[in-house]
Amino acid sequence: MKTPERVIAIDGPSASGKSTVARRVASALGLRYVDSGALYRGVTWLALREGVPPEDAAALERLLERADVRFGVADGAVRFTLNGTDPGLALRGADVNANVSEVAAAPAVRHRVVAWLREMRALGGLVMEGRDIGTRVFPDTPYKFYLDASPEERARRRHAEDAGRGSAASLGTVQASLQHRDRIDTSRRADPLKVAPGATVIDSTGMEIDDVVAVVCRAVGGIAPSAKEGRGP
Ligand code: C5P
Repeated sequence: MKTPERVIAIDGPSASGKSTVARRVASALGLRYVDSGALYRGVTWLALREGVPPEDAAALERLLERADVRFGVADGAVRFTLNGTDPGLALRGADVNANVSEVAAAPAVRHRVVAWLREMRALGGLVMEGRDIGTRVFPDTPYKFYLDASPEERARRRHAEDAGRGSAASLGTVQASLQHRDRIDTSRRADPLKVAPGATVIDSTGMEIDDVVAVVCRAVGGIAPSAKEGRGP
């Protein structure tokens, strides 16, 4: 019988370095990278586009009943379309940022997105990043990590990242937006962000990304990539 492929769960707050680390671990170990937050952002994008208020849980549920989501793999990452469209960079817009945590707190939305994420097992071994991957989506995986960094460091990283995409938002605005999402993500009733039992906690403040990637790869029994090889495009 074929050994089931691994699922590596990487949870943590916004801008803790999860995406970069998860992408590079996936590429080093030949697994698929999954950004679960992109699906919550996708649902938020669709809701805004269809005029569904983010606080209207019943309308969100109806929206998802009609939604056609399709998954595929490109460049080692799982991608999706919603109602035939790839939302692309619209997922990172200010209106999605401002509303995604409220949408993601709706139990009907979580239920649907968790089911989508579990379906991705059919695509092979995964490195999935999010807020509840180790606690809720794949609680049985032995490979769980919780990545954190100080609020100041996270705001600094996200601000630099957004500026690179052409955003003019100030450091203070970025920090306030992160705080807003942290507050909702850690206090919501349905699957709040917390450290999963058995997870390895890594505080990446002041650590180089290469070192974080190496810690994760070693913990799951893989060889850490050299600084050059592991870096994605
Ligand atoms: O990871 P990212 O910051 O893109 O996630 C956007 C939002 O989606 C988070 O602030 C959180 O509210 C929600 N989310 C979640 N559960 C996940 C991933 C993201 O609730 N597994």
